[in-house]
Amino acid sequence: MPLVTTTEMFEKAYKGGYAIGAFNVNNMEIVQGITEAAADLSAPLILQVSKGARAYANHTYLIKLVEAALEETGLPIALHLDHGDSFDLCKSCIDGGFTSVMIDASSKSFEDNIALTRQVVEYAHDHGVVVEAELGTLAGIEDEVNVKAEDSSYTRPEDVQEFVERTGCDSLAIAIGTSHGAYKFKPGTKPQLRFDILEDVERRLPGFPIVLHGSSSVPQEFVKMINENGGNMPGAIGVPEDQLRKAASMAVCKINIDSDLRLAMTATIRKYFNEHPEHFDPRQYLKPARTAIKDMVAHKIKDVLGCDGKA
Ligand code: G3H
Ligand code: 13P
Ligand code: ZN
Repeated sequence: MPLVTTTEMFEKAYKGGYAIGAFNVNNMEIVQGITEAAADLSAPLILQVSKGARAYANHTYLIKLVEAALEETGLPIALHLDHGDSFDLCKSCIDGGFTSVMIDASSKSFEDNIALTRQVVEYAHDHGVVVEAELGTLAGIEDEVNVKAEDSSYTRPEDVQEFVERTGCDSLAIAIGTSHGAYKFKPGTKPQLRFDILEDVERRLPGFPIVLHGSSSVPQEFVKMINENGGNMPGAIGVPEDQLRKAASMAVCKINIDSDLRLAMTATIRKYFNEHPEHFDPRQYLKPARTAIKDMVAHKIKDVLGCDGKA
């Protein structure tokens, strides 16, 4: 099966009350861990590539890895540009075989966000590619951009209808309290997403697919494993999984997860080195790291997203 767009995936997910996992990929072990879990559970999948991932691994290598995963699994897979920050980057990914792009102009003014998103939508739709846009600003770190919590802002539900109508985007990322990275909430506070905003957006855009970025849950067992094996990650706290499950049952059709895979991989490798200081063959420590990613993705698919068996 060739790469697919997210159109059919989102239609089914919206109606079925589940979400598709969008996992970030940077190398072969990550692609394999994610796609093996999805194949075992027969889950549709979005593999997403950031500007940084593309700079790290090279566009062609990533495309070929994803093509290999398609051939191996036969799953419906969409290849998505995560946080595209310019028309040229989006165009390059569209021309280079991606089936979905995000134009993230959320830090610009409402009018400038609309203008840039519209420009990407016109080019993308002419080439059979779908576009995710963003309204509202998430806190946290993505690529070299670090948005401080005080500069983040929730999505204003009263803006979403006009934005979607004027841009023609296919899905919309909104800010309801999630943020990028492993330090999402202050230690001692109770993480709570703004479901009132999500409900309001859903009412104003019936049937329209909503996206949640910054949706890692930062499992404490991995933070502990990192800290017990020479790391230092005090106060790393994520989004409670029951709240993500609730969002997936509503209008949220795509849930972005990257940090949890990084934590699983790094914790496993740190532990491995501590237990086997004499080992130096990368296959020895990358193998359990790949399995940790597979286990993490299987857990997300079954217990959070609810997309198992939906391929
Ligand atoms: O939202 C950002 C993703 O976690 C990708 O991170 O830009 O460091 O590749 P990156
Ligand atoms: P996390 O940092 O919470 O994994 O978010 C990833 C993301 O939103 C990628 O776009
Ligand atoms: Zn993101």
